[in-house]
Amino acid sequence: MFKILKKELLSPKVWLYDIEAPRIAKKAEPGQFLIIRTDEKGERLPLTIADFDREKGSVSIVFQEVGAGTSILGQLNEGDCILDLVAPLGKKTHIEKMGTVVCIGGGIGVAPIYPIARGMHQAGNKVISIMGAKNKDLLILEKEMHSVSDELFITTDDGSCGIKGFVTTALQQIIDRGETIDEVIAIGPVVMMRSVAEATRPYKIKTVVSLNPIMVDGTGMCGGCRVQVGGEVKFACVDGPEFDGHLVDFNGLMSRQHMYTDKEKIESNHVCRLTKIKEVL
Ligand SMILES: Cc1cc2nc3c(=O)[nH]c(=O)nc-3n(C[C@H](O)[C@H](O)[C@H](O)COP(=O)(O)OP(=O)(O)OC[C@H]3O[C@@H](n4cnc5c(N)ncnc54)[C@H](O)[C@@H]3O)c2cc1C
Ligand code: FES
Repeated sequence: MFKILKKELLSPKVWLYDIEAPRIAKKAEPGQFLIIRTDEKGERLPLTIADFDREKGSVSIVFQEVGAGTSILGQLNEGDCILDLVAPLGKKTHIEKMGTVVCIGGGIGVAPIYPIARGMHQAGNKVISIMGAKNKDLLILEKEMHSVSDELFITTDDGSCGIKGFVTTALQQIIDRGETIDEVIAIGPVVMMRSVAEATRPYKIKTVVSLNPIMVDGTGMCGGCRVQVGGEVKFACVDGPEFDGHLVDFNGLMSRQHMYTDKEKIESNHVCRLTKIKEVL
């Protein structure tokens, strides 16, 4: 059992949990994820390890309540325990001194980009960060991103904070001012990552994206998370989740992500006929 040490609301329906997990905290690296199961009937939810504290023996997750599984997770409180945590899964981010790195987080993608930006900063890179959201109320971890960035751009779709526009608006400004960029790393909604990859393609700037396909076992056995990268089939859980954004088949990824939308709706609205309690099947 894994105890929730801290629960904090970052923005509407977006929670940060610090979870007691000393053995996982010891091994976790930026870019990796965990699979969580709240209770015996719970779904297996893949979530990025947003941070880790090796001394305290805790890992952090930041998640958005979008369906049945994440809503049940969001109902837990400090002191409650989570049944299973499998981690660390996936390959860690390749962090080394390369020069100038642009770290882009969209929506809750800011949470997983934060430890990567911090790692890149500690490795001696110039870190230019861009964080974007629909509006200012949905921006998260701004202070944390400031602390690990040489320069921070904020974009909002409605202009309520920072530059009005998308993260690619700020990225284009950085490119246009003649900045030499050695790598771009983008984490966020698939459409955002695709736009970032398209923005950097003409300039041949290396672009890494972190994919979030539907996952089941997280160990490369079920094939649920398969994605086409450079014409080859890859399993995001073991070959990724980070891949070269210029080689990813984003359209295939988007259509696979929506394969179970109907079933997810039924699951979300399911009320047990015996207990009249809304519960996961
Ligand atoms: C490697 C990885 C890391 C992830 N990291 C995070 C994270 O740090 N924070 C976070 O909030 N979410 C993250 N996700 C997405 C998260 O796993 C899903 O939001 C969650 O599984 C939804 O479960 P649910 O039962 O609440 O919703 P469901 O009822 O299963 O789905 C509700 C809605 O969410 C969409 N959805 C379901 N699964 C995914 C998915 N894998 N990616 C995108 N949309 C999905 C569905 O299409 C549907 O519209 C990650 C996914 C992967 C694969
Ligand atoms: S989640 Fe099963 S192979 Fe990746």
